[in-house]
Amino acid sequence: MSAGPDPTINGLRLVVTAGGTREPIDPVRFIGNRSSGKMGNALAAAAIRRGAKVTLVTAGPAPPAQPGLKVVPVETAGEMHAAVRDALIGARVLIMAAAVADWRPRDVAANKLKKGADTLTIELVPTVDILRALRDDDVARDVFVVGFAAETEHVIDYARAKLDAKGLDLIVVNDVSREDIGMGADDNEVTVIGRDGTQQTIARAPKADVADAIVRIIADRLR
Ligand code: CTP
Repeated sequence: MSAGPDPTINGLRLVVTAGGTREPIDPVRFIGNRSSGKMGNALAAAAIRRGAKVTLVTAGPAPPAQPGLKVVPVETAGEMHAAVRDALIGARVLIMAAAVADWRPRDVAANKLKKGADTLTIELVPTVDILRALRDDDVARDVFVVGFAAETEHVIDYARAKLDAKGLDLIVVNDVSREDIGMGADDNEVTVIGRDGTQQTIARAPKADVADAIVRIIADRLR
């Protein structure tokens, strides 16, 4: 893994999101997902190695403290949206590696739900799509925005559609149907697609190396 400050990244402020949001059902239960936060944490570390100052907005486990890293812990999609908006002031790049819940319970029970009934129905409503909301948000106007696409089929086609729909500069595509890479795994293998249609594959490697390659691609785009 090559390290050391990159002339383009050095001194820039980056916002990275990580982990899977948790949408509460009651005081002890939530709807979550399998994201481990490893990819987002690796991206934050890679950007810091290149000289960036990183705000890591995370719904997962926070990495150890280090110079250049500010951690903002969040739980829900709504909290992540608010924290990202705050963090974007003065930032140049946003990398949305978090697995944000698409649905949340409409009502959150004030007290722990008791068992007893044969069935339990929880009504879900959509959460905010953070990237879509930022598309029309002044706070993100001059920000280079990188999304992730977690897909299990039609991986490249679905990712391209997301890049367009969310108005992204780059999208990092992850085939999460494979157990050896992606959610929870130590390795990853991704394809990075640019708004201009360019496509680069980063071969399977530890997430730290994949993160380093992604940060290098972002630096190339910013130059
Ligand atoms: N994302 C977001 N807000 C959401 C859901 C996702 O900002 N409510 C971001 C993710 O952080 C990621 C990108 O959008 O960078 C794509 O996320 P993904 O889960 O792959 O796609 P969805 O937009 O949720 O669409 P679908 O679940 O239909 O594939």
